[in-house]
This record gives sequence, C-alpha cells and structure tokens, in this order.
Amino acid sequence: MFRHIPSYLGDPIYSLFQEFLADPSPHRVNLSIGLYYDEEGRLPVLSSVRRAAQRLSEEGMPYGYLPMEGMAFYRQRAQELVFGADSVALREGRIATVQSVGGSGALRLVAEFLRRYFPDSAVWISDPTWDNHRVLFTRAGLEVHNYPYYDPQTHGLCFDAMVSALAALPSRSVVVMQPSCHNPTGVDLSKEQWKAIIQLMVERGLMPLMDMAYQGFGDGLAEDAWAIRAMCDAGLAVMVSHSFSKNFALYGERCGGLSVVCADNTQAAGVLSQLQAIVRGIYSSPPLHGARLVATVLGDADLRAQWEGEVNAMRQRIQRVRGALQTRLAEALPDVSFDHLGMQRGMFSYTGLSPALVDALRTEKSVYLLRSGRACMAGLNDTNIDWVAKAIGEVVRKQTRAAVTSGAASQRRTG
Ligand code: LMR
Repeated sequence: MFRHIPSYLGDPIYSLFQEFLADPSPHRVNLSIGLYYDEEGRLPVLSSVRRAAQRLSEEGMPYGYLPMEGMAFYRQRAQELVFGADSVALREGRIATVQSVGGSGALRLVAEFLRRYFPDSAVWISDPTWDNHRVLFTRAGLEVHNYPYYDPQTHGLCFDAMVSALAALPSRSVVVMQPSCHNPTGVDLSKEQWKAIIQLMVERGLMPLMDMAYQGFGDGLAEDAWAIRAMCDAGLAVMVSHSFSKNFALYGERCGGLSVVCADNTQAAGVLSQLQAIVRGIYSSPPLHGARLVATVLGDADLRAQWEGEVNAMRQRIQRVRGALQTRLAEALPDVSFDHLGMQRGMFSYTGLSPALVDALRTEKSVYLLRSGRACMAGLNDTNIDWVAKAIGEVVRKQTRAAVTSGAASQRRTG
C-alpha cells in the first residue's frame, strides 16, 4: 500500500544536528542548529523556569484541555511582551492572538489563514532566510518568492535592492521579515531602514509578517520588537509569529504565539474566531505545560525580573563570544576580515565560509556549521573557541594554499 511513498530526504538543519550528536570526537562543536548553550556547553534550564516548575508541581493542577486559542493569561502576557504593555492596539482590543505550537506552528497557522482569506497573495521571503520558511509556506499551498536581502560582498544588507523589489510588489503581498537577529545572516535593518520599509509598506498596501524567534537576543526585549511596534503605530495590518523556545530555553515545550493586528476590535474578534477554527481543524488545542511555565514566570514580578536578567545574560554571553571569535580569527587569519561577525547580532552569523570550507571543518575538525556558512554563535564558549578559531584558520590556509598551488599548476599548463 505504501510502496510508492519515497523517503523524506531530511531537513538540512536537523540532519546536521543528528550527525553532530553521532560524532565521537571529544573536540566536536555544535554551531549548527539554533540552540543556546551556556558557558559549560549545556542546554540551560533557566532558574526562573525551574522555580516556576516547582510552583506548578506543588500546586498540582490537573491537565485538562486548553481552549482552541490557548491559555488566556499566557496570550495576554505574550501580547504585552511583543507589542509593549502600553500598546494602543492592545488597549483598543485590536490584536487577535492565539497560542501556537512554537514559532513554526504560528507560521503554519498564519499560512492557513492567508491561503483561505488572501488566496491571491504571494509570500515573499528574504534571500536568504531560515531554511524552513520556504518549506512551510509552500507546503501550506502558498506561492513563495524571494526578495534581495544579503550582499555576500559586503556581508551586509543590500538595502537598495530590497527596497526596489518590495516597491514593485502588488498590494496585499505578504512580506516575511524578521524584526531582529535575522536567521541565518545576523544582519538586521537599522531603525532608519525600518522606517523607510514601513513607509513603503503603507504606500504599497503590503502585509508584513514579522517572524520573531529570538526576542531579547539582539539588543534587548523591547528593542528587538521595535520594528513590530513601529508597524503597529503606522497602522499596518501586521501579523506576528513569535516563540519562547530560545528566550525561555523551552525548545521542546513548543511555546509560541500568532498575533494579527486589525483595524478595530470587531475585525480582531472575527480573525480570532477563524484562527480558532484553523487550530481546531489541525490539532484542536495547544499543549498546556510550557504555556503554564511561561505564564507563571511572566505573571510574577519576582520571577519575571529574574527571567529578564537571564535573557540579558544569554544575550551578553553571545555578544562576548561573538567578539572573542572575531578577535581570534583576526589573529589566526590576519589577511582575512571577519569584522562582519562583530556587526551581526543574535544567535547566528553568516561567516562567509564556503560550503567546501564548512565541509572541511566538519570532516577534519568536528566543527559543525550549516553549509551556507551560518554559525550559531551561542554554541561557542571559552573552552571550545580556541579550537574553533584554530580550525577555521587551518582549513582556510589549507584551501588558500591549494588554490595557489592549483592556480600555479594551471598557469604552468597554460604557459
Ligand atoms: C534554527 O534555525 O537552527 C532553529 O530555528 C531551529 C530550527 O527549527 O530550524
């Protein structure tokens, strides 16, 4: 019956992570999947989350079903975190929010919503973007295109090309953007650039879909959501997927949310009801435990202050190892500039290393990056950073020598 079903070739990020886990080398370093490791190389359990878990365990609450839209208290706290507690749209009841199965789940819900209610709209994703964006939207039946984003020559944003591409889109096109900590490049827009994009979106009637998976890992919790809040203020119909996987280190609990900012509260009620219908038609209602953890932390002044401190500490650690890698690479390879590492922000960096170099790092040094050259900076620590910098130095020098030698050989041949 199932003979005609071909095997799934696997996901590049998850497959690489499995390969890392199977690597017996004592030097292995995981800079592949977006996981935050602490200074000891462990996946942390945040102290605020641990305390919340203890409280919940003592309370011994039963595990009933949540409503389709998720836990009310969780949704409210999530809205405040994303849009700001003083958000006008929030006060006016114009934001429809559902709890989602992680950030990916939020994207899938909004994809279903768009396919149903905006069947003529195509989705535009940055080039490059998180690998799963294209898969997710295409599988949901949407048409997906790229807009220019990253310039490999400068390791920065190709802003002019991006603006030209967006300016040519038909109205109601859905533009997927990341407000901060762009995955995979680490290259973000400045406030001035966001303002120009927002104005363009208003003029062209575009629909921003803001994917915020790393709130707090760039410049701060409020700072990282700045573009979303500015879009709300500009009156854009912004849709937001967000995740607590990273900033609560609750990856496997799949805690996220989808918000749609509407023109008034009647629209918001209609949108919310349709999101409920979509949830019911896919998985009925979201999971409970992770949402309880998040809601407990965000709803208690003491736990919340502790959590904010922990998010700040994670961000500062990433910034510190990012700077340390840049310094060490400058020592290891004085002829090659890695200045862009210091300018990028968040968990990820587009290192500029070629697929061949990435392959050599993996096979010869057990250092795992994505073949695009994306490195998860949060996998670095004081113990492994020298190994990583030395490994990069060696594979780059080896390849440069090989290129020089083969260049000389081919010159001899042509000569
Ligand atoms: C990543 O990009 O590595 C993370 O967001 C994890 C994932 O689901 O791909």
